[in-house]
Amino acid sequence: MARRFLPVFAAFCLILAATARWWPGWYWKARTINPVRTGAGLALKNGCLACHAPLEREQHADPGSRWGSVPSFYRGNLMMYAGGPGDVRKIISDGGPAPLAPAAAGAAPGKPPFNMPAFKNRLGSGEIDDLALYVMAADGYLIPDSGPVAQGFSLSRKFGCESCHGIGGSGGTPNPRSFTLAVPGWTGADFSHLVSGRGEFDEWLLDGRSKRMAGNRAASFFLDRANLYMPSFRGALKPGDGDALWAYIQFLREEAKKTR
Ligand code: HEC
Ligand code: HEC
Repeated sequence: MARRFLPVFAAFCLILAATARWWPGWYWKARTINPVRTGAGLALKNGCLACHAPLEREQHADPGSRWGSVPSFYRGNLMMYAGGPGDVRKIISDGGPAPLAPAAAGAAPGKPPFNMPAFKNRLGSGEIDDLALYVMAADGYLIPDSGPVAQGFSLSRKFGCESCHGIGGSGGTPNPRSFTLAVPGWTGADFSHLVSGRGEFDEWLLDGRSKRMAGNRAASFFLDRANLYMPSFRGALKPGDGDALWAYIQFLREEAKKTR
């Protein structure tokens, strides 16, 4: 009897062995998925970024609209359209002109070419929540006006940290050949595995790798062969920049706890 199951068992073992390379990626993806990352994926899938230019692109002209262009999510525009997080959700849900955006005085008559579609009948309520959190993270909507967190946010944009670590440190940027197949974020459980505290954070930031990882041959093997690597910012940062980036990451971690 047992012998009959031997081929099945062997096939099962073979499948497990053949897919072993992807396990760490699947495991960490499942453990670190978060609303901002999900929202970023939804924005791409649902065409939002076709109208709202991504970080690296110019905004489209939209004559007759309040500011004359379709706002990018990444340029701190949101405060001119939304009076609070509830408004952001409402804009995505209901479409049309945003609550704080009547047509510009003296603008071209008639409808502007681009109009915000209503998504309430196209997406689920949870999807709209995730999109709103992503838009707010992309925009820096919840970042205080001044102080170390604000400074950390602007440094993170200046050096492109979030192009690799995900909007608002939400992680998940594909990184072929790395151990987890994606760049880790700053807000999930993987962060505490890779960064034991401020000391190790400085090692990553200044030298591109923590001493602990540099001393671990298996970890170094994957860090060396990955497509993307952590740049060493030692020569690029001014005194106080590390404090500001650390403060920003701690802020993001606190914010993320509220939505988990
Ligand atoms: C057909 C083009 C188009 C598409 C697609 C589109 N939008 Fe918009 N959106 C606009 C325009 C135009 C405005 C400006 C409305 C105004 O002037 O009040 C806007 C405004 C907004 C705003 C407020 C301003 C800002 O940028 O923060 C949010 C938030 C927003 N859209 C989210 C989304 C999301 C999320 C999606 C995808 C689910 C999406 N939009 C898809 C055209 C579009
Ligand atoms: C070109 C892509 C890229 C850029 C830009 C980048 N990083 Fe990284 N970073 C990485 C990669 C890749 C790792 C290694 C992660 C791994 O595979 O274990 C890493 C690791 C880290 C880590 C430790 C692991 C973790 O959980 O995040 C921190 C902290 C970090 N980076 C912070 C920053 C900061 C702050 C900036 C901007 C000043 C920045 N990174 C810019 C790619 C990048």
